[in-house]
Amino acid sequence: MRTNYCGLINEQYLDQTVTVKGWVHRRRDHGGVIFIDLRDREGLVQVVIDPDTPEAFTRADSSRNEFVLSITGRVRARPDGTKNDKMISGGIEILAKEIEVLNTAATPPFQIDDENLSENVRLTHRVIDLRRAVMQNNLRLRYRVAMGVRRYLDEKGFIDIETPTLTRSTPEGARDYLVPSRVHPGSCFALPQSPQLFKQLLMVAGFDRYYQITKCFRDEDLRADRQPEFTQIDLETSFLNEDEIMDIAEGMTRSIFRDVMQVELGEFPRMTFAEAMYRYGSDKPDLRVGLQFTELTDVMKTEEFKVFRAAADLPNGRVVALRVPGGAKLSRKEIDVYTEFVGIYGAKGLAYIKVNDAGNLSNGENSGLQSPIVKFLSDGCLKAIIEKTGAQNGDIIFFGADKAKVVNEAIGALRVKIGHEHGAADGYFENVWKPLWVVDFPMFEYDEEEKRYAAMHHPFTSPKAGHEDKMTSDPEHCLARAYDMVLNGWEVGGGSIRIHRADIQEKVFAALAISPEEQQNKFGFLLDNLKFGAPPHGGLAFGLDRLVTLMAGAESIRDVIAFPKTQRAQCLLTSAPNHVDDKQLRELGLRLRQKAAENA
Ligand code: AMO
Ligand code: AMP
Repeated sequence: MRTNYCGLINEQYLDQTVTVKGWVHRRRDHGGVIFIDLRDREGLVQVVIDPDTPEAFTRADSSRNEFVLSITGRVRARPDGTKNDKMISGGIEILAKEIEVLNTAATPPFQIDDENLSENVRLTHRVIDLRRAVMQNNLRLRYRVAMGVRRYLDEKGFIDIETPTLTRSTPEGARDYLVPSRVHPGSCFALPQSPQLFKQLLMVAGFDRYYQITKCFRDEDLRADRQPEFTQIDLETSFLNEDEIMDIAEGMTRSIFRDVMQVELGEFPRMTFAEAMYRYGSDKPDLRVGLQFTELTDVMKTEEFKVFRAAADLPNGRVVALRVPGGAKLSRKEIDVYTEFVGIYGAKGLAYIKVNDAGNLSNGENSGLQSPIVKFLSDGCLKAIIEKTGAQNGDIIFFGADKAKVVNEAIGALRVKIGHEHGAADGYFENVWKPLWVVDFPMFEYDEEEKRYAAMHHPFTSPKAGHEDKMTSDPEHCLARAYDMVLNGWEVGGGSIRIHRADIQEKVFAALAISPEEQQNKFGFLLDNLKFGAPPHGGLAFGLDRLVTLMAGAESIRDVIAFPKTQRAQCLLTSAPNHVDDKQLRELGLRLRQKAAENA
């Protein structure tokens, strides 16, 4: 019988006989004495095996990394000078009396504590990867967060109700994963992009406060913060307004940070979408970075310099400056790297001015400004730039000029990159928790490819009071009752007050150019039920994977998911997705097209 976990034995157990079970983490042969670090979920313990116990010694001698052992022995203090303060068991060791080999192990594909593994290797051998202490800690953190969420929501009167995984398409803006039906050849289920419509229907059904920690499926381009299959903490409430819902969500976030991390989160400032875009070029600004945009569009409308003037004159153009304190010391090479970086976002260049002497703002020969572009700008313009940005000697000012979308993305990303690289040293980056709410999102965004408006959040979001008519007369400026929670530059949650009246829902569908037939066909079950006395309702969903990633200080959400997919949406462990045989396809009434069949 196991008496203790390896990693939890400390001085309290001195002189006691214990039995531990676990994996051989490391085995060292010290000429006559063998040391084994035995590992279980709680950590390591050092075991000493002496030739005086010949049977145990022989078994220890033939054990290799990752063998599974049961060891019984006496706990004793480690000799002076060999203590390890970083481990609970760092002051003791077990002198083995008996060893049982519970299983042998093939040579593992890598050392468990190797920190320089490629992600492909880790994901292919995920089981071994999960044995590593970081992964064990990440998944336990994830569990504690989920438990904290359940405790908090239960206390607030929410109940957990499951919704279907085989369902109809829910429009959250990504492609659907489809599941062909055998019983109904040619018909498919869609995996839910979120439980959005079911949770609304649960409000119509009178459940009042619903939550669920549930899987969502979206076939979209993957990044460090996106998986095709991810987990939402999904909430919905009846009769509450956005302030009340945000209070509950904020309270939940505070409570899990307190419970799990012993962190007291500060204020959650509220910022409108418009202000976030104006100041940071992003609807999920990383407020740890103190840099902000300076708007120069109007200033450039009267300048000759064509790069700036042309952008300022575009109907959807924008010219901004980004002042970086202390940035004049950046080398030519570093600036070239930043220029290349903004190019990823479509910027055609990265103009800059180094401020060597703000007292000498002429555009002439011995100007205090060092830059390839000052000669193109008027003295008045240079003065305005320095004044508006508040630039000091030793600063650099970067410029973005293009369509607003390109400027916002390019200079927004540059702001974060420079902030993380130089901000701590130069005083404009603070590595703390910076949450905020972004509110007053637009209802619609124009889809350039499809040449029509799409819902910015989803089409069930209510317009702001007084904005109903703008849906058709001025869709560009129609605002929604939608809100996002942002933490350190990540969108961790988002939601809205919903439309609870069928007539308004039909109007929104119409504004999105969804014909009455299509409305009835796709969303008839929603529209019909809204007519049976739907209460005012609203809610939101958190990305659990993203929250845990931030809390764990991990780089990617893949590090907090036991069995994630790669960037190419594959599971390297099980080799999913995989080809299926003809028989299965036939049963489903499917046949591969020629090309797909050739690739198979
Ligand atoms: P939304 O689409 O904003 O809203 O999703 C809510 C939150 O889920 C997380 N998230 C993701 N996490 C990992 N991988 C993904 N591919 C991914 N996509 C989204 C984000 C995001 O904030 N039904 C609405 C919610 C509502 O209105 O109540 C919805 O799904 O953290
Ligand atoms: P050019 O006239 O294209 O040689 O550019 C002059 C300067 O302006 C160079 O430093 C470019 O990096 C910069 N530049 C060019 N296009 C843009 C742009 N769209 N936004 C910001 N800077 C730019």
